[in-house]
Amino acid sequence: MCGIVGYLGNNDCIENIKQGLLNVEYRGYDSAGISYIDGNKIVVQKRVGNVQNLFDTITCPDGIHCGIGHTRWATHGEVCEKNAHPHLSFNNKFSLVHNGIIENYAMLRDNVLSEIPFRTDVDTESIVNMVAYINQEKPEMPIVNCLGESLKSLQGSYAIAMIAKETPDVIYFARKESPLLIGVADGETFISSDILGLGKNCEKYVVVPNGVYGVIATDGIKAYKQGGKPYELEFKSMISLGERADKGDNAHFMQKEINEIPAVIVNTIDIYLKPLNPLTIIEPSFWEGIERIEFIACGTSYHASMVGAMFAEDNAHKVARTHFASEFVYNPPFVDEHTLCVFVSQSGETADTLHAVKVAKEKGAKTLGVTNVMTSNLVHVCDHTLPICAGVEVAVASTKAYNAQVTVLLLLADFLRDGNYETIARRISSEAMTLNLEEMWANAKKFVKKISNSRSIYFVGRHMDYITCLESSLKLKEISYIPCEAYAAGELKHGTIALVEEGTTMLAIVTEPKLISKTLNIVEQAKARGATLIYYTSLNLKDFAVKDKDVMRAPVVDVELSPLFSIIPMQMVAYLVSVGKGYNPDRPRNLAKSVTVE
Ligand code: M6R
Repeated sequence: MCGIVGYLGNNDCIENIKQGLLNVEYRGYDSAGISYIDGNKIVVQKRVGNVQNLFDTITCPDGIHCGIGHTRWATHGEVCEKNAHPHLSFNNKFSLVHNGIIENYAMLRDNVLSEIPFRTDVDTESIVNMVAYINQEKPEMPIVNCLGESLKSLQGSYAIAMIAKETPDVIYFARKESPLLIGVADGETFISSDILGLGKNCEKYVVVPNGVYGVIATDGIKAYKQGGKPYELEFKSMISLGERADKGDNAHFMQKEINEIPAVIVNTIDIYLKPLNPLTIIEPSFWEGIERIEFIACGTSYHASMVGAMFAEDNAHKVARTHFASEFVYNPPFVDEHTLCVFVSQSGETADTLHAVKVAKEKGAKTLGVTNVMTSNLVHVCDHTLPICAGVEVAVASTKAYNAQVTVLLLLADFLRDGNYETIARRISSEAMTLNLEEMWANAKKFVKKISNSRSIYFVGRHMDYITCLESSLKLKEISYIPCEAYAAGELKHGTIALVEEGTTMLAIVTEPKLISKTLNIVEQAKARGATLIYYTSLNLKDFAVKDKDVMRAPVVDVELSPLFSIIPMQMVAYLVSVGKGYNPDRPRNLAKSVTVE
C-alpha cells in the first residue's frame, strides 16, 4: 500500500506527478502529497483525502521539472496532514516519499537520531532524518552515498524516492521488498510503485531489484548494490497499458471490471491454448515428482485457491490444500522438494504471500506463482509464474481477477492430471461466450433493496457453493459494510443457528442438484426460527415449496464450472448495494488494493 511517483524531465512535472498518483491511487487514499524544489527551497504540499482533492486545493508554480508525490494508506500514525508524505528532514534539506514499513524506526529515533527533532508519528521520518544526519556529519560525502549509508541502518521494507535542496534536478531512489519501477521516455524519467504510475509515453522500464539504490539525473541513471558497488539496470521495452485508468462508459471501475469478465475468461483461455503457452513453456522436469500441492493466498485469491485445490485433488489425484498466506508462515504444513506450492495473488505484491514464498523455498518446495502483474515481486521470487491475463484491475474489490484466477487454476488441475487441459479450456470458453450479463444485472437489481435493508447476512452453501458463499460475503462486506459471514450449510446446526432470529437474512447458494435437499433442509430450519431467506440458484426449486419471489437466478452453466460463473451476479449485487448506499465501491474505507505490509 501507498503509491509513490517521481518525475524528472522537460515537461510539466506537476501534471505528470498528478497523473501518476491518480494511476496508483488504488494503493491507498488516506492522504496525498507532492514535493518539488522552487528556487532555493523544498516545497511540500499535502492534504488528507484523495489525489484529486490535493490538486483541487493547492497551487503550484509553472516550470517545475523535478518532483516526487505520494498517496498514502496509513500504517504508522493517524490519518492527518502532518503524517502525510512527503516528509521533510529536520533541516529542510531533503524531502522523501516511502512505501513500506521501517520496523526499527523508534529505535533509530531514540538512539542515533535522539538529538534530532521529529515532527510526525510516521516511520518514514526516520529515513529522511537519517540521510540528513549523515549528510550533516559528512558534508563531503555525495548524497547518493549518504542514502546508501542510511539504508544500512534500516530494518523493514521500503521503496523510496527523495529530492535534495542541494541537487535540484535529481531524484534519489532505493528499494527493498516494496515495489519500485523506473521508466524512461525521450527527455523524461519516471519512478513509481507500479508500472501504471509511469508516464504514458515511456518507452522502456525496469523493475528496480531488491537492495538497489541510486540516482536519477538529467545526464542518466546510476544504480548501486548495497555496499556501493555499481549496478547495471536492465531496461525492457514498455508493455502495453492501453486500458489503464479508463472507466469507459461505466460509473465505476468495479462495474467495468465485472462487465469485462466474459472477455477476460475467453482471452485467458486463448493464451493458454497457444502452442507456446505459459504452462507448456515450463521445463517438464518442474512438474515431475510432485506428491502434494499447497495453495497459498489471501482474501479473494484465497477463495480462488480453494477452487484450485478442490479441482487439483479431484482431477489430478494429488493431496491439495489451501492456506492463508499469513498463517502458512507460522504454521507451515509438511513441505519438501516433492511439494508444489502455488501462490495466487492478483497484485503479486501481497506481503503475506511473498513471505510465504520465502518459507516454502527454504523448505525446498517447488514454487509456482499465479498473478495478474507480470512485473511484480511474485514473478521474481517464484520458480515459475502463470499469468491470469485479466488486464489492469483498479477497483479495490477484486472481481475479474477472481474469475481469471479460477480459470487458470481449473486448467492447471487438468494439466497436472495428464497434461491435457484443452477440453476443459474449450468448455469454459464456450460457457463464457454465452453469458448474458445484462440479464444478470437486471436479476441482481431485484434483490438490492432486500439485501441493503438487512442488518446482517449469512451466506450458506455446501461444497463448491460454500466457496462462492465465502467470496460473495467478502465482496459484499468490503464495499457495503453490511456485516456478513459465510458458513458451510451443514455447520449451521452445530452452533451458528443460535444466532438466527427475526430480521436475520440468510442467502442460500445452491447450484449442484445433488445438494438441493440437504442445503434446503438446513435453511428451512433457519426460516422456522425467523430468518428471511433468499435462494440463489440455477436449479428448479418448485418441488421444495420455494416461492419465485425469493429466488435470485444464478447463470445456468455446466455444474462443474459453477464457482467460475455463479459468483458474477453476487459481484453485481455487492456493487449495486454499495452504490445504492451512496458509497464509492472502487475505494472502500480502510482498504487498499495491494496489501504490502504483514
Ligand atoms: O493481490 P492479492 O490477490 O494478493 O490480494 C489479496 C487480497 O488482499 C485481496 O484479494 C483482497 O481480499 C481484495 N480486497 C478482495 O476483493
